[in-house]
Amino acid sequence: MKRFPLSVFALGLLLFTFTSFTPPQKKDPPEKRIEDLLAKMTLEEKVGQLNFVVGDLFNTGPTVRTAQSDKFNEAIKNGQITGIFNIHGAEYIGKLQRMAVKESRLGIPLLIGADIIHGFKTIFPIPLGESASWDLAAIENGARVAALESSAGGINLTFAPMVDITRDSRWGRTAEGAGEDPYLGSLIAAARVKGFQGKDLADPRTIAACVKHFVAYGAAEAGRDYNTTDMSEYLLRDVYLPPFKAALDAGSATLMTSFNELNGVPATGNMFILQQILRKEWGFTGTVISDWQNITEMVQHGYSKDHAQAAEQALQAGTDVDMMGEAYLKFVPGLVRSGKLDQKILDESVRRVLWLKFKLGLFDNPYRYSDSKREKREIRSRENLAVAFDMARKSIVLLKNQGNALPLSASTKKIAVIGPLGNNKADMNGTWSFFGEEQHAVSFLEGIRKYAKGAQVTFAQGCDLYSNSTAGFAEAVTAARNADVVIMALGESAVMNGEGASRADIGLPGVQLDLVKEIHKTGKPIVALVSSGRALELTWLDQHIPAILATWSLGSEAGNAAASVLWGEYNPAGKLPLSFPRHVGQLPLYYNHKNTGRMYEGDHSEPGSERVYKSRYRDVPNTPLYPFGYGLSYTTFAYGAPTLSKSSITGAETLTVTVEVTNTGKVPGEEVVQLYIQDLVGSTARPVKQLKKFQKLAFAPGEKKTVTFTLNAADLAFWRQDMTFGAEPGDFKVMVGGNSRDVQALPFTLTSL
Ligand code: NOJ
Repeated sequence: MKRFPLSVFALGLLLFTFTSFTPPQKKDPPEKRIEDLLAKMTLEEKVGQLNFVVGDLFNTGPTVRTAQSDKFNEAIKNGQITGIFNIHGAEYIGKLQRMAVKESRLGIPLLIGADIIHGFKTIFPIPLGESASWDLAAIENGARVAALESSAGGINLTFAPMVDITRDSRWGRTAEGAGEDPYLGSLIAAARVKGFQGKDLADPRTIAACVKHFVAYGAAEAGRDYNTTDMSEYLLRDVYLPPFKAALDAGSATLMTSFNELNGVPATGNMFILQQILRKEWGFTGTVISDWQNITEMVQHGYSKDHAQAAEQALQAGTDVDMMGEAYLKFVPGLVRSGKLDQKILDESVRRVLWLKFKLGLFDNPYRYSDSKREKREIRSRENLAVAFDMARKSIVLLKNQGNALPLSASTKKIAVIGPLGNNKADMNGTWSFFGEEQHAVSFLEGIRKYAKGAQVTFAQGCDLYSNSTAGFAEAVTAARNADVVIMALGESAVMNGEGASRADIGLPGVQLDLVKEIHKTGKPIVALVSSGRALELTWLDQHIPAILATWSLGSEAGNAAASVLWGEYNPAGKLPLSFPRHVGQLPLYYNHKNTGRMYEGDHSEPGSERVYKSRYRDVPNTPLYPFGYGLSYTTFAYGAPTLSKSSITGAETLTVTVEVTNTGKVPGEEVVQLYIQDLVGSTARPVKQLKKFQKLAFAPGEKKTVTFTLNAADLAFWRQDMTFGAEPGDFKVMVGGNSRDVQALPFTLTSL
């Protein structure tokens, strides 16, 4: 046998060692496997594990990435990419995983992320809509379906839930969150995390959650996306942080930083929020991911002088993964080599990423999320669509129903569907629904035709969503004149909501309101389906249109869900997760505001000079058009006088609040019974109301239920003046009702802690 010269053998051995490192033995515990890997990694391979890039299917931000197509493959093979996001397809992703595992030196599998915000292929209502259900089990189930579908398609991480509190509906991303309340928002955040992650992250039918955007992004000045936020630490801790804490307590494996700067320091390089609060106080050990280029954007913020400094500041602060900035990739090895950045900091971040991959089970089977058979079976299955239908119905809020205009009578013979969202599939899925193909969404017209058995249904668009053309008005007026009932489908398009979609005017866009006014002149009864990703200004509609339903963006089953409500097959029970203003000038507007020294609650038009120096507008009342927690039903509920188990409690005792609620109407219905408190005097002034408990209950006609809530000192806690968290003894009010405005109040005292 011919012998190889020794040098060739040595070279071969060297090459072998360099190109085909054997991953650690599976039987070793993950901690050991991670340390083994770290010991083998070059600096470049380490930063590669912190570099997250978008795939080639669609972009959700500006791209600077050099690694397109083939080059992209090279980057995987060279270990320059930890993961790819916003791609899908079991087969395609399986191929990429194979490339990472078989063709990169260390064989580290890829994270496959995606913005699965309200469903994958089966699209659920936008998160704001789902939140209007106040149904935590249903919301959790929706996230579970999203995980089932997306995991089959190769995805192992979703950039959700978005838990930003929003008090200003000009902000387009209002659509993605749970509204204005930290308590409701916290419960919904936890429900979504549980739905995505299930009991075990390594279960191939679950995906990792990424709670976002940390933090105070929803408080962008003037509701303009990406804008500055400046707020007290009290407000931050009392209102904006709780949903993040709740999501992390529920186990969210990762967290995304926000675009905004907070009190002068960009969130992504903010030691106070990322180190002090997140890591030290909350003990979060999971992975922190930057948002799209928000490491390099620290330069534009005026906080970093160049991308190298931005990389240093972000990594120091604890942002582990660089999404789409390539700042870590380009600068961190140099920063470590020059001694500017401690290698230990880099190693910690790499450890956290590898941990995530272990927790997802990727090291044991990198293909577990790419299951073509399951993908075929799971995606848009009949069961999943049924869940989406149920969720969509639960999300609808009945805002007005004068003279019981709804539900429609089965004997209605002629119906005109009018408006730009009437015969529209494209906008039913709403913002952040890249994976859901619009042709599968059921339009309002389709749903209405299905439910309007035997009735004649005509359609006239009237106008489009934005333009000023009134050319279609005449046709729409004729259609209305020939109908017994007009159903108007109005509101916002999908792209008017979401990222970069702030609006200065939150009325109906284009000439839609003019169209309604024309149709109104016909004297025909009108029902308005108003779709939006925010609280809209609906003052004229409220004054003139007898029946109004908030239909958000309802997703795949939009038309069926709306029609089911229109005909009373389902009795709407949604409650607003945010206040609807009378005028955009009232914003920011939220129910849990504070008092002023000169509060004014009367009608703005009342004459009287004594009221001039009051906190009010001269032209609009202070109150919202529709308050937080508000929503009607086809039945009515009567609240008895609430009672308390005692008039005072100590910190160790529990107060029981009891109220009798009766369905006083003729049809079954559900009611969300809400409990608010007010702490009358605090070391920092307290809000006029704060939601503390609620129960969503079903009632048969005539049924009376005794509803019981318990409260203790923990429910009364807040960030006190000395920056400690806890309750303060003193006088309180407890309020019970069916929305934040119509409540009955009782006093009680917390005597001691
Ligand atoms: C930017 C958005 O702010 C964020 O929410 C999203 O997850 C990423 N882009 C990825 O698409």
